[in-house]
Amino acid sequence: MKGLLITIDGPSGSGKSTVSRRLAERLDYTYVDTGALYRAVALFALSEGCAPDDDSRLAEICKHLVLRFENSSKGPILYANGDDITERIRTPEISMAASAVSARSVVREYLLNVQREMGKGGRAVFEGRDMGTVVFPEADIKFYLDADLETRALRRYKELAPDHAATSLDEVGEAMKKRDGDDSSRALAPLKPAHDAIIIDSTLLGIDQVVETMLGHVRVHTK
Ligand code: DC
Repeated sequence: MKGLLITIDGPSGSGKSTVSRRLAERLDYTYVDTGALYRAVALFALSEGCAPDDDSRLAEICKHLVLRFENSSKGPILYANGDDITERIRTPEISMAASAVSARSVVREYLLNVQREMGKGGRAVFEGRDMGTVVFPEADIKFYLDADLETRALRRYKELAPDHAATSLDEVGEAMKKRDGDDSSRALAPLKPAHDAIIIDSTLLGIDQVVETMLGHVRVHTK
């Protein structure tokens, strides 16, 4: 099968990460979680006390940030300046901060280059918000994965680490609604389907069904 560049965009909790990872595994492609890159910038901004709209400090942070994914049996590991930050970026605080820094052009421009560099060789599944619209407008296949807010909130709630057990389902839903609203309404690279994206609603579909549907499109494309 010829190597392709596949993009999967969509809101949080749509099942994007699991589906993207499985699709990449099935095709023996590289999986790139671009949300993790925004989370890395947010982690550094928070730890340095930098406000999410302080563009000159954000530019400094980006200038000194070297991001790299490495595969492992547990999934991709993200290294920032040589440190494994894979676990530390998975908190509700980092989710909100990542959304905030992702609205800044200095951050988007820096990560645009990082992502395009990672995608050079093709044979990859890129997951994010603007993969098909901005980062890889020439991608071979673009998917947009969506689901009802209620379903997405429940999925995210079930994924919460035990130390966030005090958070209620309503709180998860509210935070998700706010973040999706911000990500979709921002001026720069807002979350939306590319005009040529294949839209899949996963509200009533299991992970396997979504992956099979996508593989069907890949087969048609490579025929
Ligand atoms: O996919 P995620 O929840 O890990 O993403 C965290 C935030 O990063 C998300 O709220 C918006 C931003 N993001 C983005 O703007 N563009 C991307 N390609 C990926 C993520």
